[in-house]
Amino acid sequence: MRDFAEQTVVITGAASGLGQAIVRRFVDLKARVYAVDLDAARLTELQTALNGAIEPVVCDVTDLPMVERALSPIPADVLINSAGITGKTNLRSYEVDPANVELVFRVNFFGSYHTSRALLPGMVERGYGRVLHIASIAGKEGNAGMLAYSASKAAVIGMAKVQGKELAETGVTVNAIAPAVIRTPLVDAMPVEQVRYMTDKIPMKRTGSLDELVDMVQFIVSPQASFTTAFTFDLTGGRATY
Ligand SMILES: NC(=O)c1ccc[n+]([C@@H]2O[C@H](COP(=O)([O-])OP(=O)(O)OC[C@H]3O[C@@H](n4cnc5c(N)ncnc54)[C@H](O)[C@@H]3O)[C@@H](O)[C@H]2O)c1
Repeated sequence: MRDFAEQTVVITGAASGLGQAIVRRFVDLKARVYAVDLDAARLTELQTALNGAIEPVVCDVTDLPMVERALSPIPADVLINSAGITGKTNLRSYEVDPANVELVFRVNFFGSYHTSRALLPGMVERGYGRVLHIASIAGKEGNAGMLAYSASKAAVIGMAKVQGKELAETGVTVNAIAPAVIRTPLVDAMPVEQVRYMTDKIPMKRTGSLDELVDMVQFIVSPQASFTTAFTFDLTGGRATY
């Protein structure tokens, strides 16, 4: 069974938050890490901080031709989709600007669709792969005030079910993970009322930590996690029991 030191791992949303924490873990595990993000300056900062141990890929995941050019040639064993945005929140569904709803879908759903579209054929051909879409508890439960975010994450969960079942006999697994609140720049940029609403619903009465997230991610994309596909893993301190 292959160790991560022999694997190529592609991580989107790599310059910040969960994506950056995941990048750091796979660098520690000596994987070859392609760190994909829209934010070129923060990617360069990260590359410097990690002494050049990553391959930075400046790419907008909403742009399919750009994703295909940048990612299709990579012989990826693992793809982790962490690029995501909340859009405008703390608004009723009929108050949200449709353009904002569309933008959130373009990043959260289409971004993960584009990257998996680019990398899955190679994984299937090589007979091994692990894809993990970072969804959200919002996609399972629906968070009031977060129409676009919740619906786009529900779409991501649906995609993991479809892709996992389609590829179940190929050696490639596709799963999602649905975290509750983990403090990152994404959460810090949200209205305090919206963050309180989400945090109050967590039975453990605390937010999740980056380590808790990264430990679960590492297991899901490991060769050992070989009999679970099309599934959405829970990381919510008891908020979801299904
Ligand atoms: N932080 C949480 O509490 C939480 C909870 C559940 C799910 N999530 C999900 O986890 C993922 C990461 O969230 P985070 O908290 O780390 O956010 P973050 O804002 O800290 O990081 C997101 C990264 O994605 C990048 N990005 C945004 N649009 C992009 C695009 N079009 N192309 C390429 N890169 C793009 C940003 O530049 C940024 O570096 C998101 O999908 C988010 O929805 C986060």
